[in-house]
Parts: sequence; C-alpha cells; structure tokens
Amino acid sequence: MSGIIGYIGDRPVIPVLIDGLKRLEYHGYDSAGLAVIVRDSVFYQKTPGRIHNLEERINSHNHAGEIHGGGYGIGHTRWATHGKPTEENAHPHCDCTNNLFVVHNGLLENFRKLKKNLSAAGHVFRTETDTEVIAHLLEKYLAQLGALEQAVIRTAQDLTGQFTFAVICRQDREKIVAIRSGPPLMVGLGEKEYFLASHGPAILPFTTTVIPMADGEVAIISKDSVSLTGLDGQPRAPKIEQLSPDGTASERGGFRHYMLKEIFEQPQAVRDTTLGRVEHASGRVAFEELEISSAELKCIKKINIIGCGTSLHAALYGKYVLEALARIPVEVDFASEFRYRNPIIGSDTLTIMISQSGETADTLLAAREAKKRNSKLLAISNVLASTLIRESHGVICTRSGLERAVASTKAFTSQLTVLMLLSLYLAQIQDRIFWDNSSAYLEKIEDLPSKLEQLIGRRAEVLTIAQELADFRGFLFLGRGPHFPLALEGALKLKEVSYLHAEAYAAGEIKHGPLAIIDPSMATVVMATHDLSDSNSMILYDKMLSSIHEVKSRDGQVVALATDGDREVPKIADHTIFIPKTLNLLAPILEALPLQLLSYYLADIRGCSIDQPRNLAKNVTTG
Ligand code: F6R
Repeated sequence: MSGIIGYIGDRPVIPVLIDGLKRLEYHGYDSAGLAVIVRDSVFYQKTPGRIHNLEERINSHNHAGEIHGGGYGIGHTRWATHGKPTEENAHPHCDCTNNLFVVHNGLLENFRKLKKNLSAAGHVFRTETDTEVIAHLLEKYLAQLGALEQAVIRTAQDLTGQFTFAVICRQDREKIVAIRSGPPLMVGLGEKEYFLASHGPAILPFTTTVIPMADGEVAIISKDSVSLTGLDGQPRAPKIEQLSPDGTASERGGFRHYMLKEIFEQPQAVRDTTLGRVEHASGRVAFEELEISSAELKCIKKINIIGCGTSLHAALYGKYVLEALARIPVEVDFASEFRYRNPIIGSDTLTIMISQSGETADTLLAAREAKKRNSKLLAISNVLASTLIRESHGVICTRSGLERAVASTKAFTSQLTVLMLLSLYLAQIQDRIFWDNSSAYLEKIEDLPSKLEQLIGRRAEVLTIAQELADFRGFLFLGRGPHFPLALEGALKLKEVSYLHAEAYAAGEIKHGPLAIIDPSMATVVMATHDLSDSNSMILYDKMLSSIHEVKSRDGQVVALATDGDREVPKIADHTIFIPKTLNLLAPILEALPLQLLSYYLADIRGCSIDQPRNLAKNVTTG
C-alpha cells in the first residue's frame, strides 16, 4: 500500500531516496518523508502530498553540504490507514528523543494497547499512526539491548498484524535494519552500496540484483555487507534473484498516461501469456511452471476462485469458462469474505487465487485460510517474486509486465486469458471435451492479439462516444453469462478513474429494480455480442436485445458492444462499438479493451488524475 526505500553507500543519499520514492509513488501518495544520516548530521523531512512537495521542501532548505559525500537513510511514501495524511502522520516516525527513525508498511492490530502501555510508561506520542508505537518500542528495547538489530527482533515479538519496517538510529550508527512481516521488502545489491525497497522499480536504475526478504526475516545492512537473520536471531542464507529488466516498461514512452500505455500493451500481454502454452501438434495446453501434477488435478471435484476488485471480476469470468469447458463446479469469493465464512473446502478442492500484484493482503490471508483447510493453492499472478506465489503450491504467471497505473487493464485481460487456457487444460485432464473442440479454441485464442490490435485501431469511435457522454449523471453496465463480469469490470473502471457513478447488473435483473433509475441523463452500456456457433450465446443475445428495448422505452441512452456485422443492435442502440468476431467465451477478452478506453477517455475529458486516482493505491497490502 505504501512504499519504502533505503540506501547506504557513497552516492549522495537524498537524490537516491527521492528518485526511488518517485518510482514508488503509485503505491501510495498522500504524504512522504525521509531521514538520512551523513557523518554527524541528521536530516529529517516530511510533507503531506506528493513526492515533489518533499523535493521542493528539501531543495528550499539547501542542505547541499549535508547531503553530498555518502551517508545512509530511509524514505517512505504513504497511503493513510491510521491518521489523516498530514505532515505529522507521514513517515519516518521517531521515538521520544529523535534518536530512531522508522518507516513502516502494513497495519498493526494491537497498536492501541501498545500505545496505552507505552504512554503509561512515559513515552510521548506525537502522531495518530499505528507506526509510532514501533519507534517507541524500539527506543525501549534499544535501551535494554544496545544493538539495533536486537531491538528490532524484540520489538517484533510485541507486534501483531503486518509490520514490514526499516529503521536507522543515531546511537547505533552506519546501518539500516529492516524486517519483513507481511508487505514485501527486498535488499538491492550494488558495488559497495546497498538499497532497500518495498518494490523492485524503486531501485531499477541502480541495480537488478536483489535479495527478496521472506516473511519473518531481518536484514542488517551496512556499507560493506548485508546479513539476514530469522526472528530467532539465527543467520539465514540470502537467496539472490534478478529483477526482470523491464526498466523500459517503467517509463511512459510517448503516452500521456500509463493507463493508456497499458491498454495499448494488451495485444502483447495476451500474446506473451499464451506463448509456449499452446501445443499445436497435439492441440493441448501446457503450463510448464504449474507444479501441481496432472494426477492431482484429475482428482479435483470443486474449484474456489478468490480475488479482489478487478481480479475478482476475472475470477467470476473463470467460473463461466471453467464450468462451461471443464464442467467442474466453481465458487467465487471476495477474498475479504472468504476467510470469515467458514468455507467448506478440502483436499479435493482446488483454490485459485488471482492477484495481479501477488501482495494483496486480503488475498494472501484467504490463501492461508484455504491452505490450512488442505486445499491445493494455485496462484495466478503477474509478479513471480510475490508472496502469493511463494506461498502457493502451483503458479501460472500472467506475463503482462509491470502495471503502473492504479487501474488494472493489461493484467485483467491476461488473467482472463490464463483462465481460458486453464479451463481447456483441466478439460483435457478430466477428459471433458473433444480434441476438435479444443483446437478450435486454441486457434481463436491465438487470434486474440490481432483482434485487440484492431480494437485499438478503432479507438476514435470510443473517444467520440465519451465526448457525448461526459455530462451524463450516471452509468449502468449490463451483461449476461460470461459477459456479466465485464459489465462489473466496466463499471469499476469507470468509477475508479473518472469518479462517475456507475453500477453493473446481470441484465435479467434490471426489471427487478434498476429500471427505476433510467432517464435521459443515464447511460446504459450493454454487452450485446453474439456467436452464431453457440446456441446459448444466441439465446442470451436475444434477451440482451430485449433489455436494450426496455432501456430505450424509458428514454435511456444505450451504448452497445456488438459483434462485427451485427445489424440489429445499431438499429436500437444510440451508439455501437463493434467487436471482432470470436467465440462467445472469448469475446469478454476483447470487450475489456473498449470498456477501458471509455473509462480512460471520460476521465481525461473530466480532467481526473488518471494514473493515480484519488483515494486509491496500486497494491492494497493491508487487510
Ligand atoms: C482495479 C484494481 C483493483 C485491484 C485489486 C486487487 O483496477 O486494480 O481493484 O484489482 O486491488 O489487486 P491484485 O490483483 O494485485 O490482488
């Protein structure tokens, strides 16, 4: 949710921290701060708002003398969880004597009790945050134990919840001590310099060689070395990995916004996600990295799919395709609901976790719940070095590359692609469909990237529609069958980036209430594609035509997504966006793109902060 950066070495420390914070800004951006120690001076600064506020404040202090010639320090960009996004509540947080400086990602569950006890013992609190208790606990234990790393380990024993944090200290100098418990953290390795980062892009310009920290690990970083221990103080062997070198993907290229760039990257993302997984000769699907055996998958009787937000919408699409092709019953859960409902799962249940980041707290906690109940865990994620992937039995990577806009786009279409391939894979393993049928799907899946390119080529039509709808009061999205999750996703995307009110319904539901909101100032976006080769699709298409009539007869405006060549829909809808022909179950992967463009253009026309919408953060690492 928030971002942590740290540096120790010979470079001027503040520019390194500021650069890292800017790269982390999409993890949280309501306030920022840093603390550095250079020789005998401590420099400590925090500001509300974006990183450039912090940068301006630092420049205005003109600390050139203090910031050059090496040093070390930590920085943080915050998304408020406890306490308003004010200067006081920004990280780093200090103990009573400004001896210790702490930056923290996560959420402490027992901070109120700890704060009460520490206050009673004379500690003076200056902020509303949960994090400040960490600083005061460290103060207490540093006085008892003398070494910062020992104080960190002892402090961790008092904390419950999620607490990944880093600390520097005037008293125990020349080191950064960091601990991971929950949100991710990694140490970046350079030549006689080390970096600390919650997320890889923060340090990508400096190094690609990292040690991703495991849960419960402590890192002690000095200019000459890094060592890891467990919470028992025993040394741990560091596991060195390489960050994927997509430094280029972390730049915006010629695009005005990352969201638009990422929408345009979808043909490639879907192509990469399919790459090597389709065996033409046998007409089979293969997942090299899956790590759950065919024998195990053959015994699966039920599937649970779990996710949050956009990933949850992908999960719902998964239900439609898995049930249609693999004929395995599927339940879909919000991750935040799953672990509190005493779910009925066991060893014959496959639990599929979907998460772009692989770090969403609710999803991780739900995964642990399913694992506790002996379910096999399969993670579908975009980040191979993520906690979710490390904790799952099997993994399928979505391969969409770094997604920087808060609104998920290319990760979503890649998730849908994986779920379609997985449905075919399980159908094959469980002998559910004839090979001929499977080959037809595989062929059409491989056509998806070029069809997505066609849709990008038609973007001007979506822009025109957005211009006409910019002043509408609200938006209703309707879909049926596998297109219903797309209605949900279309509404979520629109809310997220344009702040317009939007709702989604299964189209059959509108006469049970939602029709009451239809009037000339309300736009209804309908998924009205069809597939002549699929009788179920044609039944739902006819029903969709009736829904359009129902909306039109109440003077509502209709924007319809229809299949190329359709002559019926344009006769009754006010605006039609055409989608290239494909199989009914694959059409949602195409429908996603114009829905994303519609949200993007509406947000742009309305002057919204598209890549970093208000109140949101890219990774929600607190549950
Ligand atoms: C919406 C969006 C969020 C995420 C959700 C889960 O555009 O991005 O709704 O989908 O926070 O995130 P992941 O997939 O990283 O678990």
